[in-house]
Amino acid sequence: MSEDLFPIPADWAAHARMNQAARAADYRRSLDDGDAYWLEQAQRLDWITPPTRASDSSFDEADFGIQWFADGTLNVSANCLDRHLAERGDITAILWEPDDPSDAPRSLTYRELHAEVCRFANVLKDAGARRGDRITIYMPMIPEAAVALLACARIGAIHSVVFGGFSPEALAGRITDCDSSIVVTADEGRRGGKRVPLKANVDAALALDHCTSVRRVLVVRATGGAVAMQPGRDSWYDEAMAGVAPDCPAEVMKAEDPLFLLYTSGSTGKPKGVCHSSGGYLLWASLTHALCFDYRPGDVWWCAADVGWVTGHSYIVYGPLANGATTLMYEGLPSWPTPSRIWEVVDRHQVHTLFTAPTVLRALMKEGDHHVAKTSRASLQLLGSVGEPINPEAWRWYHGVAGEGRCPIIDTWWQTETGHCMVTTLPAVDKMRPGSCGRPLPGVEIEVVDEDGNPVEPGTNGLLTITRPWPGMLATLYGDDERFVETYFSKFGKDRYFVGDYAQLDPDGYLWVIGRADDVVKVSGHRLSTAEVESALVSHHSVAEAAVVGQPDEDTGQAIAAFVTIEDSAADVSRTELVEDLREHVAAKIGKLARPKRIVFTYDLPKTRSGKIMRRILRNLVEDKPLGDTSTLRDPSIVEHIAKKMKES
Ligand code: PRX
Repeated sequence: MSEDLFPIPADWAAHARMNQAARAADYRRSLDDGDAYWLEQAQRLDWITPPTRASDSSFDEADFGIQWFADGTLNVSANCLDRHLAERGDITAILWEPDDPSDAPRSLTYRELHAEVCRFANVLKDAGARRGDRITIYMPMIPEAAVALLACARIGAIHSVVFGGFSPEALAGRITDCDSSIVVTADEGRRGGKRVPLKANVDAALALDHCTSVRRVLVVRATGGAVAMQPGRDSWYDEAMAGVAPDCPAEVMKAEDPLFLLYTSGSTGKPKGVCHSSGGYLLWASLTHALCFDYRPGDVWWCAADVGWVTGHSYIVYGPLANGATTLMYEGLPSWPTPSRIWEVVDRHQVHTLFTAPTVLRALMKEGDHHVAKTSRASLQLLGSVGEPINPEAWRWYHGVAGEGRCPIIDTWWQTETGHCMVTTLPAVDKMRPGSCGRPLPGVEIEVVDEDGNPVEPGTNGLLTITRPWPGMLATLYGDDERFVETYFSKFGKDRYFVGDYAQLDPDGYLWVIGRADDVVKVSGHRLSTAEVESALVSHHSVAEAAVVGQPDEDTGQAIAAFVTIEDSAADVSRTELVEDLREHVAAKIGKLARPKRIVFTYDLPKTRSGKIMRRILRNLVEDKPLGDTSTLRDPSIVEHIAKKMKES
């Protein structure tokens, strides 16, 4: 971890808004005089009642609690739309690039987006939505997805977006957990020339016995593909929009009222409904979009994530729209129909900033530089990375080939729970170090500690923790305050937030994130729980037991490796068939993104004498590391057996 520092490109240094000293002073003030600092920052939002207090939050055991801007009121959609109308109403808010490059792009100005959101808010109200209701959004990457989010925010309903790649069963689980009464979806999605049967998936989810809360389904006609509509329950978006008024007053919300839930994977099988509230979240979204990406009016901004993940929430919708930016929304895949596509989109829309994930970069890098070289990319000034550690090789490629050495790279570390970027270099301020995210943003105090919570020396690996509350942090886990405390505030007590990542700080205070320290795996940047995949596997009739770990993968960062023992009844089934069958079974239970890359059949799993599966041994096996202490294994010979089977798999 002694990579050279990359300097700030000269063009950037020339128009820097602050220097190192100012960044350090700003950071110090955010910690020493936090209340004044955050009340000042809060002025970037349009409050109905401006807050008089910043934080009533504490990580102290005695008065633990999370509350930001508690006496302030605002409406998030009004902040993203109404306040821009007078001066920026005719500026493009959303630029939409379709999956198929021969289809025409679409764009919506702030005025048009405002009108669309108001109408859809009225549609939601007509469908019975009230303040505080949960509304599930299962959408392709089309502008109507952003409209749905903002319409919920307008009427004070809480949205829960479920990524369109999740299966009906996973969708049903997320609908039921938050008792959602309305689903917003589309007939189909388009990705890489293929159709995704979203409405059919919703129908399948709602047909499951336990999924009973939904009364209404609103369906956008995205592809015109044939779908079944259930009278009384299902309505077409366009028909419903035609029948409502174009104005909808924005509900007055408290800063602490929930804005959205977003289910993410944790250490156990059940996804967690991460709950973000309105004021602190929006402030942090707007501030980080401006600060980390040095956003300036007129820049075309492209966060190439899916709105189904937190990156899409914060950096396709809320952050850029709160700042009056032009945000590009891309329906398709970065490398379809050719590996030049991502750069062609940059050229077509004159993108200034591109924010994507290391997985995408690794895949494009493999395809060869000529796919990049044939595009101009002259508009590109800044490159961002998020979601998983970026290997220095991919970093250098992004910097040298894609950005031709003239674009700073910001590697942003954060999580669904943190809401927004927490640690990064700032483009015109900090030198860059390939593979390191850089330094914490204002108000973010981090510490790397050992298993007992004692800070470790710089240059030593440990567990990443955050030692004070920050405005964009999750408020709780939906309906489960206990699990919230248990997940984030039990390992080291209430005085520090347990991140779940291994990391180290170097002597310059730069953060190097190594990977997850818990049972979470990041496959192509998508967060999955090993327990979730295990329970999907054991629900297959041929499987007796399963243990899942993440194995290093040069394309996807990590991939799912599953170790499986089978039922006697399946002894004669062909292993090749069973592998395919199990992969499809997991896809049906969770989604294709969770399909194991490798399945190893074994007669037993490494277990302690009390029968506990020792996943550490499997992890070390797939990572080709020394196995460590195996003396507590009930059957030590199992390790050799599994190692042999791995060679065959
Ligand atoms: O392990 C870290 C990794 O992604 C986790 C959070 O995943 P998720 O909630 O899906 O949020 C993804 C979008 C922010 C973290 O605990 N991670 C995220 N960004 C980075 C990263 N690891 C290394 N470097 C990053 N820049």
